[in-house]
Amino acid sequence: MNLSDLRRDFGKMGERELFRPQSPYKLITQWLKEAIEMNIPEANAMVLSTVGKNGNPSSRVVLLKEFSEEDGFVFYTDYQSRKGRELAENDRAALHFFWRNLERQILIEGRVKKLSREKSVNYFNSRPLLSRASATVSKQSSPIKNLDSLLEQRDRLLQQAQDIQCPERWGGYSLKAGYFEFWQGGQNRLHKRIAYRFVKGKWLKTYLAP
Ligand SMILES: Cc1cc2nc3c(=O)[nH]c(=O)nc-3n(C[C@H](O)[C@H](O)[C@H](O)COP(=O)(O)O)c2cc1C
Repeated sequence: MNLSDLRRDFGKMGERELFRPQSPYKLITQWLKEAIEMNIPEANAMVLSTVGKNGNPSSRVVLLKEFSEEDGFVFYTDYQSRKGRELAENDRAALHFFWRNLERQILIEGRVKKLSREKSVNYFNSRPLLSRASATVSKQSSPIKNLDSLLEQRDRLLQQAQDIQCPERWGGYSLKAGYFEFWQGGQNRLHKRIAYRFVKGKWLKTYLAP
């Protein structure tokens, strides 16, 4: 396998008026909409990076469930998972989208907060029964003997419980962004990059060298 020769040119999406919006929320709304319209699988999948108090960064994919400038970028998980433990130690995190077919990536940095219990419960209850039961028996990121033992626990739970309640350890976070970076692939390495930083109540826009 020769990874060093694995590259391709970008810029196939053509010249477009890309970075006009003064608000990064307008731009990300437009880009997400285009990713969904293009039927990019899991267009709302994003890499979440966290850093615990030992200083080691870690990353994994989570699904963006909603976002707004007021409420931030919302995702749901297990608060006792590795990411949950790291976020409890350090609320700074980064989100990253890569949509290959659009030749675009977005980096978002900010601080996270847990959602209200009410909001988490409402979302949990909107999920299918089997995924609620799975989330209940799966203490995310903790070692297990095998997947069969979890399936047995889930079956037992489904037989016994009248209803599957949202576990205390499960819920949502919202990331309030302070920094965005948008990247659009260009030809011969001349990609377009723009950063937005929130300074004194305003978004400041800067072009960056690719
Ligand atoms: C496409 C995709 C979507 C995922 N969505 C979520 C999600 O929304 N929430 C979640 O907790 N894990 C999600 N996962 C699983 C995580 O990537 C990860 O394995 C899990 O959360 C445990 O991470 P941690 O041990 O670093 O905390 C998803 C994985 C993939 C590949």
